[in-house]
Parts: sequence; C-alpha cells; structure tokens
Amino acid sequence: MRESFQSKTGALLALVGSAVGLGNLWRFPYMTSQYGGALFIIIYLLFIIFFSIPLFTAETLIGRRAQTNACEAFNKLSHGKMRWAGSFGMIGCFLVTSYYCVVGGWCINYLFRSVANLLGRGGLSGIESLQTTFVTVSGSLPQWSESVQSVLFTLVFALTCGAIVIIGVKKGIETSCKWIMPILFLLIIFMAIRVMFLPGAMEGMAFLFRPDFSCINGKVVMAAMGQAFFSLSLGSMAVITYGSYMRRDDSIGQISTFTAFSDTIFAVIASVMIIPAVFAMGLEVSQGAGVSFISMPFVFSNIPGGPVLLILFFIGLLFASVSSEISMLESNVAYVMEKLKMSRKGATILVTLTASVFAVLCALSFGPLSHIKILDRNIFDLFDAATANIFFPVTGVLGTILIGWVMKKEHVVAELSRTSSPRPHKTTIKAFYVITKYIIPIMVTAIIINGLISQ
Ligand code: PFF
Repeated sequence: MRESFQSKTGALLALVGSAVGLGNLWRFPYMTSQYGGALFIIIYLLFIIFFSIPLFTAETLIGRRAQTNACEAFNKLSHGKMRWAGSFGMIGCFLVTSYYCVVGGWCINYLFRSVANLLGRGGLSGIESLQTTFVTVSGSLPQWSESVQSVLFTLVFALTCGAIVIIGVKKGIETSCKWIMPILFLLIIFMAIRVMFLPGAMEGMAFLFRPDFSCINGKVVMAAMGQAFFSLSLGSMAVITYGSYMRRDDSIGQISTFTAFSDTIFAVIASVMIIPAVFAMGLEVSQGAGVSFISMPFVFSNIPGGPVLLILFFIGLLFASVSSEISMLESNVAYVMEKLKMSRKGATILVTLTASVFAVLCALSFGPLSHIKILDRNIFDLFDAATANIFFPVTGVLGTILIGWVMKKEHVVAELSRTSSPRPHKTTIKAFYVITKYIIPIMVTAIIINGLISQ
C-alpha cells in the first residue's frame, strides 16, 4: 500500500490544486478570445458536464485501484495488455511539465514587475512598460535581453517546483490550497465585478455571452475539448497519480464532481474578469497568448489599492500554477522512482533538469528560436496544442477503454461504491458506465479526427 493523503480533504485539495491554475486564468480566456467567445464557452461547458466529470471519476478510480504510478497503472489493471498506453500518457505528461514552466515564469516576471510598480518605479509608466515587456516576450520583437529574462524566470519556476517535490508534496499542497485558492477566488470575483463598470466592458460581455452558432467548426470543437482536458488535468496522468494517493474511503464521485465544478467556476469568472477588460482597453481580443497578463495591470491600475491587489493577484496565480506544476512533476517522479528504483530526490532532480531543458527551448521559441516552425507553430505552441488536443484526449480515451472494456465491471463498481459517504445511486453508476464505455471513446476519437482534418 502506498503513502496516502493525510487528511480527509487532502485528495480534494490536491486535485483542485492540480486543476485550478494557468489553464483557468491564462489558457481559458486566451482560447475563448481566439475561438469566438460565447460559442467556445458553451461547447466547453458541454464537454465538462458530459465528458470531464465521468472521465475524472474514471481516472481517479484507475489510480486508486492500481496503487502504483500512473504508467504502471495501465499495465497492472490490464494485466499487461495496455502497457503501451501508460508510456504514451507519460510522453504527454512530460511535455506539459516542461512548457508549463514558461508560463509559470511569466507569472514570476509579472509578480516582480508589479512589486516594482508598487515601489513607484514610474507609476503608470511602470504598468505600460510591463505591457511592452510582455508583448515583446510573447513574440513580436525577438530580443536577447527579453529572452534571457524569460529563460531565467522559467528556470526559477521549474527549480522551485522541483525543490517542493523533493521535500514531499502532499502536506505543502494541502496547506497552500486551503488558504491561497479561496483568496484568489475572492479576488477574481471582486475584479470581475469591478471590470464590468469600465467603459467599453459591455461589448466584451456581449462577446462572452452572445454566441454566434454560424462559427462552429471542427477546430473550435477540438479546442474546446482540449481545454476541457487541460483545465481538469485529464489524460495527463496527474489525476491517476493523485488517485493512487487517495484514501480507501474517499468518495471518488463526489471529489470528481466538486473539482470539476470549482475549476469551471474559476475559469468562467476569470474570463468575465479578463475579456471585458481587454475590450475596455481597446486591445485586439485575438492579441495572442498574453491577453490575461497584458490586461491585468490595466484592470488593477485605476482603483484604490490597485497596485497591492495586483501583487496579490500574481501571488495567487503563481501559487495556483505551482500546485498544478507539482502535480505534473509528481506524476513523472512517481514513475521514475518506481521504474528506475531511484530515491525521490534523485528522481526529482532528473525529471526537473530534463524538463528544464525542454522548457528553455519553449521559452526561446518566442525569441531566437521563433523561426523554427512545425505545422505552422513555434515550439511552445506545438507543445501546447499537441498535449491539449492530442495526447490528453487520446490518453483519456485509453483510460475509458481500460475501465469500460478491459477491467471487470464488478471491480469498477466496487471501487466507485467504496466510500464513507452515501454510495452513488445505481442509475448514476449505469450512466457512468455507458458514458465511459461508449460515448467518450467514440465522440473523442471522432472529434480528434475531424479536428485534424480541418486544421
Ligand atoms: N489543470 C492545470 C491548469 O488548468 O492549469 C494544468 C495541468 C495540470 C495540466 C496538471 C496537466 C497536468 F498534469
């Protein structure tokens, strides 16, 4: 039996910590702005309800049943038939572990700059220079100094997360999620309300809530599905890994539903905070990966106490991204520890350093390496699209095949029913089974194929 989470709420906090992160406050608003606003949100919500909750349940179930690292879980539960599926999933997990550090580095960068702004280095012009810096970092002007900064912050982020994993994750995450997440949540609610009163913000609200169904196509559907996987860390091995640390009587169904709802509420409120602000600023919504970062200093700049709130916001965002990165690192580390029989320390150093090399390549893909394009994308964008749109959904489907077609039904039902809370209703279990066995594998495969054709 493996070491498990310390408290009853431990698994819940760790899973929320993995789910809530840059996916909500950076990727979701960015994708929403790129893929047509309200339409994207509606499709995303449908994926969350019909796919993500059952899949989250399926993945925690796999982890808790297998009691091993996520890669080995596929091998063990399928009695060797699906060993390759675990290896495939680990590749996606490793890719996201590395490129996520770049965006984590942006958080640190912005945190430093917002502190400099508070200390009065230039007042409003400090904010403007902050925006200019970000736009430069995100690609328009490849400059060595910007790239060096980006690489440095990427490495600081990666090494800090590595250090936390060496110390041992569970307690630290439980404590930080308990305090920081609610503060971040309150802050974004407050700021979303504030943004609504900015002149021009209503246009942004219309963009967010008035869908144009004529824009629907394979690309939008695939992006919304990818985001539903990314945001809940599905298909990335993190949920399976944390599932394996769950206590025997934790209710898998309840924890999955709660995590999915809180993550989705975070994402939608973050968009209500960011997109109208972008409209109010007169920026292009399709500005690029940096919309969240660019708009935040502006939102906070015109209110009393704004500079302090801006710092609090970036601290919250940084903690949220650290807890997500840790869940990815932990999945790699658990694998390396068990596979290569290494100590936690050795495995973490190995994984962190290897991921850092790839992360640096991703950071440089906005500067000196911006000429390297594969399928019309720079290295960072390629890692992002490949993980969210291909690796995670395919690994998710492999997980549902394991549950629906390979594992014995009575084992699945027993695991779902093992809880100290009220047991799930028979109809709920039936619905779970039909969705995981038939609907998810068929639909996700069709969407991936259709999305690839329409690229
Ligand atoms: N769910 C995280 C976020 O929304 O930021 C991202 C993530 C975490 C993806 C862990 C994959 C993963 F394994």
